[in-house]
Amino acid sequence: MIQACIFDMDGVLVSTEKYHFEAWQRLAATLGIHIDEEFNENLKGVSRAVCIDLILAHGGVHKTEEEKRELAAQKNAWFLESISHINPVDVFPGVREFLTQLQMHGYKIALGSASKNAPLLLEKLQIAQFFEAVIDGNSIEKAKPNPEVFLKGAEALGVAPKNCVVFEDAISGVQAARSAGMYCIGVGSPAILTQANFCIQGLHEMTLERLREL
Ligand code: BG6
Ligand code: MG
Repeated sequence: MIQACIFDMDGVLVSTEKYHFEAWQRLAATLGIHIDEEFNENLKGVSRAVCIDLILAHGGVHKTEEEKRELAAQKNAWFLESISHINPVDVFPGVREFLTQLQMHGYKIALGSASKNAPLLLEKLQIAQFFEAVIDGNSIEKAKPNPEVFLKGAEALGVAPKNCVVFEDAISGVQAARSAGMYCIGVGSPAILTQANFCIQGLHEMTLERLREL
């Protein structure tokens, strides 16, 4: 029986995934590396530092650790610029309604995001109050597909992994949820999120009835 829902943030609750992609593309271009939407599927869900390594490997470019830190800082500055005007209307359709339903019916709710900007975004979007636990890029050591982020979420909520469902839009995130022994609902295309139990296009498709059927 499902007792808790753990949500990824970027691409599930809000459309910030496109700002990450734009910033990575801009950064890659400064290094003479081209990245497209297909390559971007590998960047979704993983930490900022791992993204840098993936992009450099993709372009066959070598950088020192210090240079990589500078590149990460530049990308984050661009990302922060993009989200500076984000506000509560940018939350995806159905998100607030579904979170409200879950809360009213006693489900536990956690965030399981790779982003270090998660607390800032939850505040800006005014949805922080829904989350009993927030596990983000500041509180984990191992990036998705490692299950750490979701296992910590379940632990913080006091719910066994098998009683948790994860909502994820990233291949790495779906893998993390499945290795954590959790049910996973993919948010996006089933052709991409092949390991998800099933996929929805967005949280506007979710209802408590669907959750109870799991
Ligand atoms: C994930 C995103 O949620 O967070 C990735 O899917 C992003 O695209 C990662 O790179 C790290 O985010 P941040 O905000 O800490 O750079
Ligand atoms: Mg995501």
